[in-house]
Amino acid sequence: MIEAAILKDSTELTTDQQKQLLGLHYAFLNYQRSVLGVKIDVPELTTALLFRGNRIAVALEAGRVVGYCIYRVISGVLKLRTLFVAEEYRRSGKMTALIELISAREVYANAQLTVHQKCRPAYNLFTRLGYVASELDGWLNLFFDRHANLANNKTTQSAVV
Ligand SMILES: CC(C)(COP(=O)(O)OP(=O)(O)OC[C@H]1O[C@@H](n2cnc3c(N)ncnc32)[C@H](O)[C@@H]1OP(=O)(O)O)[C@@H](O)C(=O)NCCC(=O)NCCS
Repeated sequence: MIEAAILKDSTELTTDQQKQLLGLHYAFLNYQRSVLGVKIDVPELTTALLFRGNRIAVALEAGRVVGYCIYRVISGVLKLRTLFVAEEYRRSGKMTALIELISAREVYANAQLTVHQKCRPAYNLFTRLGYVASELDGWLNLFFDRHANLANNKTTQSAVV
């Protein structure tokens, strides 16, 4: 079972875990700059700043933060803002577990995120979860309609039965 939790503020993490989360966030910003060629200044951040207006789902491995997803729910829309898993822990279901945890805990009608079209792993992950992609200027908007998907699942289940 993947160890995962949803946090409302940084005090729910130990000092070491806060450093690990911040380290992952800098790795994400570095990924955006180097792999995606997105020109952004790397800001000076604190874990408290990452939580401002957001919740953060974290994946843990022996108490160590190895993946995270920053999100917020606004007017019934789940907005997934940042997601990243440390390279050595990828392809073991960590981000899927975080998205499923958020889906189980949060109340929302639709979900949305934007990723660069070079982010094929994220594209594959979310389309597999039922998100629908539309492309604009090299960026992919991924959209999930929760009610439509529930209805589809029910139809599929009753067809199977
Ligand atoms: C995208 C990311 C968060 C996925 O995290 P993860 O924990 O490795 O994802 P999961 O193990 O839950 O993968 C679930 C499914 O997504 C798809 N997927 C994930 N990584 C993939 C890859 N490298 N290539 C192809 N498909 C991939 C697969 O369908 C996978 O299922 P499978 O392993 O059974 O085939 C991770 O690759 C990452 O941190 N990437 C860099 C940051 C990033 O791209 N963020 C997105 C916004 S820019």
